[in-house]
Amino acid sequence: MLRLFPRYDRDDIVMKLFYKAVSHQWSAEALDWDAPTGLTPRQALALTNVITPVYLGEQAAMNGAALVLPQIISHGETAAQLYLATFLLDEARHFDVLTRLYTHFGNRPVALRRIPEMLRYHQRLSRGDRVDWLWGILISDIFAREFYLTFAKVQPRALFGQMSAHILRDESRHQAFAHAYLKNAVPQLTAARRLALVDMKNELLETMRGMHRRLEEDAEVLGIDGAAFFQDLSRHIEAHAVAIGLDGPRDRPGPNGGSGAEPNWMHRLADLRRRALTESDGLRWPILQGRGRPSVPPGSRLVAENTPELTAADLRLLVGPRPARRIFPVAPSLPEVATCAVCALVRLCKKAMLRGAPAARA
Ligand SMILES: [Fe+2]
Ligand SMILES: [Fe+2]
Repeated sequence: MLRLFPRYDRDDIVMKLFYKAVSHQWSAEALDWDAPTGLTPRQALALTNVITPVYLGEQAAMNGAALVLPQIISHGETAAQLYLATFLLDEARHFDVLTRLYTHFGNRPVALRRIPEMLRYHQRLSRGDRVDWLWGILISDIFAREFYLTFAKVQPRALFGQMSAHILRDESRHQAFAHAYLKNAVPQLTAARRLALVDMKNELLETMRGMHRRLEEDAEVLGIDGAAFFQDLSRHIEAHAVAIGLDGPRDRPGPNGGSGAEPNWMHRLADLRRRALTESDGLRWPILQGRGRPSVPPGSRLVAENTPELTAADLRLLVGPRPARRIFPVAPSLPEVATCAVCALVRLCKKAMLRGAPAARA
């Protein structure tokens, strides 16, 4: 949608990031390609292997921005539209310098078939709308920032250390943009959408861990401590999740839909759902998915009995109030039995009256 004179606030944080991006452009020529690599041939090979997911990520981010831009434009988000134009150029530049790095070392990226998680990751990132994409981009940018920071700190004068320092500045801006956008957008989402974003975060983190497992040997050659790296990464991602409104006591629905006090409820539910999905015998997941079902499907008691950590409030949230009332307690209470008996009696009486009515008219 073209607008002749769109309005935007020049003091908006997104516009400030846009001006910063415009004045901090650089190219591959800014790097000293004759600088020492500081790596043995085996370490150089390990580096080009380890950066493969990041390299694909640079391309995917560039393509993703191009796909999301029309959505941003159609919503009249002019500041974000301008910023994304610089984001696209940044990712194109990262793709270019990394391509030149592969040529410089005479190596190739690891084949996609050896790390299928790379494709799985980007397929997940491309599902949903601009909010989903930006959440995935924020997670990816946090990863990229942590990754480049490692080399910028350890080898500041070496070729990849210099390159990392340059890319790092761009990635920090990307992170700030995605964070600012989501901080505004997330509180306007429904609880179900926010829960889906928590699920997405868990899925992306798990996929990243899968990629790391495939590249563990190369990471060790470079002295990267995978466990410490993922611990830091998770901590940073969780901190962003809380800051943009994906967690917190005020989001916790109470038994009647009001607010409660238990923190981390979204993470807890997302975790329960993931476990139900991965450990299920095929019965539990459809039940947990059964939001709004009119009756309890077979196997419900199995959920209640085998998932002691699942509280009545959790189930109400997952499957809606009616099924949850039927599931808890596992053994029906006396008032419940009495209510059911009275209801059954009323139904029988109604049926009998309906049968008798035509005869009476005759
Ligand atoms: Fe990038
Ligand atoms: Fe980025």
